[in-house]
Amino acid sequence: MQAQIKVKRFDPEQSDESFFQDYSVDVTDESTILDGLIKIREEQDGTLGLRCSCRASICGSCSMRVNGSAKLVCKTRIKEVAPNGEVISIEPMGNMPVIKDLVSDMDAFWSKVRSVDPYVKTDFKPEAEHIASNDSMTHLLGVMNCIMCGACVSECTALEVDSNFIGPAALAKAYRFVADPRDEDKNTRLSKLNGNDGVWDCTRCLACVEVCPKDVAPMERIVKMRELAIEEGYTNTSGFRHTDTFVESIRRHGRLDETRLALESTGLKNISGLIDLAIIGLKSLFRGKIPPVLPHRPKDFNKITSIVERLEDKRKD
Ligand code: FES
Repeated sequence: MQAQIKVKRFDPEQSDESFFQDYSVDVTDESTILDGLIKIREEQDGTLGLRCSCRASICGSCSMRVNGSAKLVCKTRIKEVAPNGEVISIEPMGNMPVIKDLVSDMDAFWSKVRSVDPYVKTDFKPEAEHIASNDSMTHLLGVMNCIMCGACVSECTALEVDSNFIGPAALAKAYRFVADPRDEDKNTRLSKLNGNDGVWDCTRCLACVEVCPKDVAPMERIVKMRELAIEEGYTNTSGFRHTDTFVESIRRHGRLDETRLALESTGLKNISGLIDLAIIGLKSLFRGKIPPVLPHRPKDFNKITSIVERLEDKRKD
């Protein structure tokens, strides 16, 4: 069968502009997108830049956007995404600069991974084996499946607006050590991850969970680290205040009090934050988007508060 593939091309030595190039290539029902791209490069266009190595979804080097969403192309069959011969769009990963064609620059990705100190920190003296329970290590298996392909980073909506956010891959890696019973640096790690650009910057959009080819579920690890940080007493963060005020607002009013949420998340002692907030408030006012100062109670107020109470009882159990 013939696969129709359009590839986003970019060569900084030729032009600052990127463009799509169409290819048609002979493939079989079993061919992966990577097979198709390699065939194009070998038979039609030797200038096509792409990165791959293992061709068996192990090395993580072939991640790119297929029809707008990051995938390992060595794991994705052409038939799967274009069962009726539809045109397949291939682009480099998002949230990363492009070196050439489908090759992304992962320098920032790796420096963020390195920033979480991705190794077990312990003073354990190796006089005997450092034994961890089977359950604790089995729990870590899910996150240890990460092959650092960058698919989660490519689709991260928080990174799209703030490139300083440490991102889902580095945070999933951080969790691997925060949750390792042999690691003796959990508290310092959580303290650092609670700072700017850390766990509270995730918007919980689930995009990373959806695209991860290894079911690492980075967002779930991030949420778990937020809970662990709160348990350890790291509550002086805008993220914690936001969560706390959100629940309190629903309990008291049966709905979100956006004005109070914004003020208390920022912190009433955070003068520069409050000035920024006032500017946002003024802009919202001029655009007619300012929330009501005193939220009214919805007619199902009692039902809503009883749900909150039941959830809180369940959490305490
Ligand atoms: Fe190694 Fe795709 S080539 S994961």
